[in-house]
Amino acid sequence: MTLHDFPALNASLNGTATVLLTAGFIFIRRQQVAAHRAAMLAAFTVSVAFLACYLAYHLQTGARTPFGGTGFIRGVYFAMLISHILLAMVIVPLILITLTLALRGQFDRHRTWARWTFPLWYYVSVTGVLVYCFLYQWWPAAPQRGLTQRQGRPFIWQNLFLPDYASDRMLYLVLTSCTPSGVLMDREAPPRP
Ligand code: HEM
Repeated sequence: MTLHDFPALNASLNGTATVLLTAGFIFIRRQQVAAHRAAMLAAFTVSVAFLACYLAYHLQTGARTPFGGTGFIRGVYFAMLISHILLAMVIVPLILITLTLALRGQFDRHRTWARWTFPLWYYVSVTGVLVYCFLYQWWPAAPQRGLTQRQGRPFIWQNLFLPDYASDRMLYLVLTSCTPSGVLMDREAPPRP
């Protein structure tokens, strides 16, 4: 297994979490508490595995994968990505609280918290799969020498509010104003052999 396999592995873990969450919900609706408990603990384990793989991948590569879509779908993608990232941070304490309450047998409080935790966790796991499909399957970026790609930095504002060309241009202007010569050397085409 190489680093290239990680995005697909991460999407699979998210997809598995979605299936387990769905099963856990159906179980509790049918009053099958033991099955609900098993499904939720499995979903938690899979999500922890996802977090470990996600961190391992991003700490090693350090780069961001550019999104290939343009126009309307680009806005949809970044709205989804940002909501996914923000809610992924929010659900960590929610999951731990909901789980702890259940394991301590405080089921009334568990139910109250679960009404928030469950839909948010579900949204994060589903959008985790969708982000992968958008980025790697449906709108992969064509190989290019674009500045945004090579710098590999997540300038979220530029992707959200500016069309591709304008955002590259602005990033170029900011970076060149920071270099002594005012010229970005690595933007030049490599010499022909
Ligand atoms: C973070 C993990 C978990 C989540 C997100 C979760 C989610 C839920 C949800 C959505 C409900 C239905 C709430 C409603 O009626 O509106 C529920 C109920 C319940 N859960 Fe969990 N659950 C989790 C873990 C557990 C565990 C580990 C147990 C262990 C036994 C458990 C036991 C129960 C019980 C007994 C109920 C019924 C409570 C009642 O109606 O009084 N849950 N849970």
